[in-house]
Amino acid sequence: MRTPIMAGNWKMNCDNDEAWELAAAIADEKGDVEGCEVVLCPPATALTTVLAAIEDTNIGLGAQNIFWEESGAYTGELSGPMLLSCGCQYVIIGHSERRGRFGSADEDFTPELQQVFGDTDASVNRKLPAALSHGLLPIVCVGELLSERQEGQTDEVVSGQVTAALTGLEASEVDWVILAYEPVWAIGTGEVCEAEEANRVIGVIRATLAEVVGGEVAERVRILYGGSVNPANVEGLMEQSEIDGGLVGGASLQAESFCELIAAAAASK
Ligand code: PGA
Repeated sequence: MRTPIMAGNWKMNCDNDEAWELAAAIADEKGDVEGCEVVLCPPATALTTVLAAIEDTNIGLGAQNIFWEESGAYTGELSGPMLLSCGCQYVIIGHSERRGRFGSADEDFTPELQQVFGDTDASVNRKLPAALSHGLLPIVCVGELLSERQEGQTDEVVSGQVTAALTGLEASEVDWVILAYEPVWAIGTGEVCEAEEANRVIGVIRATLAEVVGGEVAERVRILYGGSVNPANVEGLMEQSEIDGGLVGGASLQAESFCELIAAAAASK
């Protein structure tokens, strides 16, 4: 039995006032949630604000990124101990926006600038053990570009990303990892991946996991779907056997819609 997770990735949204308001509204409605882990991932500037708003609730706090060193001359970066001191229990690693894999060709992002945040399979593989060594639960994102899907490379791309992310980890460490399948073309586009197809790809990810760390651990690892999850499509996704929850951007920015997603996840398994 895998406990479902509903995680809100607020991305670069919400100043501290807005973050307080949103987190407090979610806490009011779903603070006593059971049967589902709820995680709020505000921008780093709002972590402590959100922590105060979810105090004494069942809602958890996550960061959107981590750097692998503990301290030092790394301007702009945040370490595991820093995230822990803000009350984080989770951290998103290797989101496609940080990997520079954007779904649509945005004129502001030339190919050079698309590398601007710089995450690669190799950096994800360094961030992951850094998170685990501090007791943070990593939510590791993988997913194919539209062009890769059109060329029939989806399964190869996602299993390659999973294998690269987990290289060097013991099975006992992978037990703590959460994965998120986020097809890049479905993120922020309103174009959700068909539930059956998302379930199929997540099955491919679980089979890859089984090869790397064995079937027992693979059966326990939670694998989320992300990409245009909303109240209208969440039930169809959550009823799939392989989908253990959602990593949600847009629909996590309104308390009402995010609470509907939480309810669907909690009722699903
Ligand atoms: P979206 O974003 O729900 O807005 O598509 C999901 C994500 O990027 O994690």
